[in-house]
Amino acid sequence: MQTLDKYVINGGVALHGEVEISGAKNAAVAIIPAALLVEGVCRIENIPQISDADTLLSILAELGAKVSFVNQSTIEIDCTEARYQDAPYELMRKIRASYYLIGSMLGRFGSAKTTMPGGCNFGVRPIDQHIKGMTALGAEVNIKNGFVYADALDGRLHGTRIYLDKVSVGATMNIMIAAVLASGRTIIENAAREPHIVDLANFLNSMGADVRGAGTDTIKVNGVEKLHGGSYTIIPDQIEAGTYMVAAAATGGEVLIKNVIPKHLECISAKLRETGTIVQEYEDSVLVKGASTLRRANLKTMPYPGFPTDMQPQMGVLMCLANGTSVINEGIYDNRFKYVNELRKMGAEIQVDGRIAVVEGGRRLTGALVQACDLRAGAAMVIAGMCAAGRTEIEDINYIERGYENLVGKLQALGADIQVIREPEPTEYNEKIVAII
Ligand code: UD1
Repeated sequence: MQTLDKYVINGGVALHGEVEISGAKNAAVAIIPAALLVEGVCRIENIPQISDADTLLSILAELGAKVSFVNQSTIEIDCTEARYQDAPYELMRKIRASYYLIGSMLGRFGSAKTTMPGGCNFGVRPIDQHIKGMTALGAEVNIKNGFVYADALDGRLHGTRIYLDKVSVGATMNIMIAAVLASGRTIIENAAREPHIVDLANFLNSMGADVRGAGTDTIKVNGVEKLHGGSYTIIPDQIEAGTYMVAAAATGGEVLIKNVIPKHLECISAKLRETGTIVQEYEDSVLVKGASTLRRANLKTMPYPGFPTDMQPQMGVLMCLANGTSVINEGIYDNRFKYVNELRKMGAEIQVDGRIAVVEGGRRLTGALVQACDLRAGAAMVIAGMCAAGRTEIEDINYIERGYENLVGKLQALGADIQVIREPEPTEYNEKIVAII
């Protein structure tokens, strides 16, 4: 649901200080649905406080899971009493990661009925590879009227060999989830290798699964009869860390980014160094010092360990500021340059042709009223606003809050002049006003 909430930023302040990175969104949004496979209590630590995680916890609760917060970032999920029912559609439609319910419900119950996933719109985002995987595991899958119906033909999935036609994060993880309780061995070839894939495998293994090879392009899942409860800590968020790295570089500040795995950030660190930014790696932190003059750099997004598409819009802002012309080649999605129109309102000069953007750098951005077109585009607008002269207002911030824990609080602690303006909860009276607007 769109809200009228917005961020207001007065730009021109260089970020300084320390920031603590939260748990990885894209690991959490797979691990929470995967908890449905477990009969027992899963204690999960380092859960990010973001709306996508809340939505998935609500979906599990609707399916009969007991969910309790031990503290802000630790939850216990007990799906022992969960029973098959249609997944709650309104919640499912909100997020992309609801597709993991297809795998977890099929694995646990042998059936799933879900909506087609929602989430950020980067052009067509098919789920054919997920369906190919589930079908190969012995499910009949049909899509009708916006719903996905999946049923294991003889009540349980069976291990098999699956070659993904495309390197897909979601399909790799979904098939892993579905295969854990299948009979026999599943081999996923041409698998994605992102850190959150390894994290999901580690979570599943800590609950009694037998998943091998995660982090390589061939993953083997030996099916087990049952998973048991256990305790697991989610890895830090690569993209949240990268966003603060770029924010520090773009504002010309100096920020120590704590609770990270520097190895996961190497592709981002290397690109930032090309622009003249100093990046120093420590055991579980990185220090980023902005350069007095930023240099241009070309960029191509690719599956891990390549440069992540989820960092492309943030880097696009940095390139507007860097001296010279930079070329961005979007290697994953057809339509991930919608944020360029918003940046143009701030004085950016960027030409887009299909998956290529040519950025004329050396621009002084100026504050404007802009939209967060999606989660990472929204983060890019926040960075642009902090670098721009004057006041920037960012609308549609609900996208940003899907994936960044306490973004405003963390940036304020680094010295940024950013406020969130929340519309009052609708009463009968102001509901009418909203309707008139
Ligand atoms: C996940 C991330 C998202 C990130 C993306 C790429 C989550 C919840 N989201 O999205 O933040 O941007 O990985 O790192 O983890 N494709 C198909 N058929 C499919 C599946 C994908 O053609 O069945 C295509 C997609 O359209 C895209 C490419 O494959 O062009 C990669 O998509 P994928 O890795 O699956 O992304 P998501 O899992 O949706």
